[in-house]
Amino acid sequence: MTQDFLTTPAKILITGADGQIGYFLNQATQNDPFFSVVAFTDAKLDISNRQQVQKRLDEHLPDYVINTTGFNAVDQAEAQSERCYALNRDAVENLAMACGELSIPLIHLSSDYVFDGHYESGYKEDDQARPLGLYGDSKWEGEEVLRATLPRHLILRVSWVFSTIGDNFMRRALLQARQEEEIVAADDRRGCPTSASDIARVIVAILKQLHNGAENWGTYHYCCAEITTRYGFTEAVLAAAGQYEKLKVEKLIPISSSELGSDAERPASSVLVCTKLLNHFGIRQLPWRSQLVAMIREQYQNEEINDITA
Ligand SMILES: NC(=O)c1ccc[n+]([C@@H]2O[C@H](COP(=O)([O-])OP(=O)(O)OC[C@H]3O[C@@H](n4cnc5c(N)ncnc54)[C@H](OP(=O)(O)O)[C@@H]3O)[C@@H](O)[C@H]2O)c1
Repeated sequence: MTQDFLTTPAKILITGADGQIGYFLNQATQNDPFFSVVAFTDAKLDISNRQQVQKRLDEHLPDYVINTTGFNAVDQAEAQSERCYALNRDAVENLAMACGELSIPLIHLSSDYVFDGHYESGYKEDDQARPLGLYGDSKWEGEEVLRATLPRHLILRVSWVFSTIGDNFMRRALLQARQEEEIVAADDRRGCPTSASDIARVIVAILKQLHNGAENWGTYHYCCAEITTRYGFTEAVLAAAGQYEKLKVEKLIPISSSELGSDAERPASSVLVCTKLLNHFGIRQLPWRSQLVAMIREQYQNEEINDITA
């Protein structure tokens, strides 16, 4: 263990530390000698408060800020546009301006929802953004404000995030399967489920290379490998969870997204092409199926997070 980096760990500051990606990024970095970590929940650092952001950055002077916050309630965004833009756009500007004052690079998470979903073959980073709803639009505007404010930024667009934390499709499917005999899932929209812990792995790999001198700033895509639908993903959730308990569900019914009737329009195909990340950073996609098996195992084994209604 004689690498130089051990004498100068990368100081990172994580926002949104109790969200899905924030939690797993904190876990992945806390015991890694490469990093010195400060991680803030919204109670300790509200990124919509410009003065508080500046104060925290002045106090800690991190080498990198990683913003994992987000207003991600896609349907609620339609009725709560002010809150949505305040966090997904205006607060990103706060962070970018404060980082700029101190020459700190910002790693920021964005979404497949910046695209309209008409490209079946998958979206590359410089494909035309055309968000269908307010959530996607707010994420796109957040990206744009970051590009305009802070040259040393890295935007990582991810898709269909699942984990043992918070409200996500895996946990919702599991909860329904425990409570209902028949459940439905959309079998038309295509995408790649991606585990929050895998996204944390990707961010760690990016940070290590940046800290060792890589200057690969810009926009990147990451999602786990294998395209599926919500129906395909739910089938896999039920199979994995069935190893641990007898679920109440007996029938999984495929339906169309229009039958589900949601407030916000969603992209029909939001597959992200991840070759730029491979070419610039050598980071490969992992299959979501193995990530899902690990997440379900963690869901059942860890008593603290076993209550999926929490
Ligand atoms: N979830 C997905 O499927 C998905 C897909 C594509 C992209 N993304 C992007 O990935 C990123 C992380 O997503 P996620 O699923 O990990 O999010 P998440 O689980 O919803 O976590 C977001 C965190 O941000 C915190 N937060 C809210 N307002 C804040 C504020 N003003 N200041 C500081 N923190 C605040 C939340 O705290 P509270 O819980 O206390 O509100 C929460 O802990 C977001 O940028 C999202 O747009 C997510």
